[in-house]
Amino acid sequence: MMDYKAACDRINELSGGFKPEIIVVLGSGLAGFADRVKAETVIPYGDIPGFGISTAPYHNGRLILGTVEDKRVACMDGRLHLYEGHGLEGVVFPLRVLRKLGADKIFLTNATGGINTSFKVGDIMLVEDHINFQGRNPLMGPNDEELGVRFPDMTYAYNPELRRIAEECADRLGIELKKGVYIACTGPSYETPAEIRAFRLLGADAVGMSTVPEVIAAVHCGLKVLTLSLITNMAAGITGNKLTMEEVAETGRQRSLVLGGLVSEIIKAC
Ligand code: HPA
Repeated sequence: MMDYKAACDRINELSGGFKPEIIVVLGSGLAGFADRVKAETVIPYGDIPGFGISTAPYHNGRLILGTVEDKRVACMDGRLHLYEGHGLEGVVFPLRVLRKLGADKIFLTNATGGINTSFKVGDIMLVEDHINFQGRNPLMGPNDEELGVRFPDMTYAYNPELRRIAEECADRLGIELKKGVYIACTGPSYETPAEIRAFRLLGADAVGMSTVPEVIAAVHCGLKVLTLSLITNMAAGITGNKLTMEEVAETGRQRSLVLGGLVSEIIKAC
């Protein structure tokens, strides 16, 4: 059983009782958003009992508590992935802790491969739904009734009101927001071209190695979810180019300002 109290107590002690409203999770190469947070307390994950250490490249592994547009934000600068070997309970532990500290919304960002051929590298996709292809679910095992119900509904997992706000904000900023379905694989190998063709038939628009476990756990514990995916590369087989972490990170760097601006605008508006 994960010890939520120990983690909450430690964060409270280090932050003087900071109460987050919004959790923002930064995906690969999107760490630039951290600069927008007027930081009050920065805590390395290693200092919080139960928080796993981020090992993924470009994931810093620190919790930044502060404000963006005068809203109290807990920014996870670096997320945990299934492929790092944390186990899904470890992957979703931080968001559950932050929920217990008061957050009621979570904004997730991620890097993805574009499956929909009308997308181009650098596009931002508002996630409307997902396909869980990781073969497991973070809610497997005994249900903690204090967190949520045994069988949570996923029909409105991607909160319609937050999606509407995101679309308005993108319009205001002149960002052409794409919309679509995210499919989660475990990684860490990228997908094969045959898998990508299969995923297109299944109705997926973009593929990544994260986010879905967090969305499921977030819905379970009553957080309103918004997810934005950056298309950092076209998925395997589409261009014939080999996929590299460097391309993913480079697109992240190039588009970090635009995606960060959109996230800030949404924080202001909600
Ligand atoms: N596949 C899986 N995860 C990813 C990709 C991809 O093509 N790009 C960025 N993250």
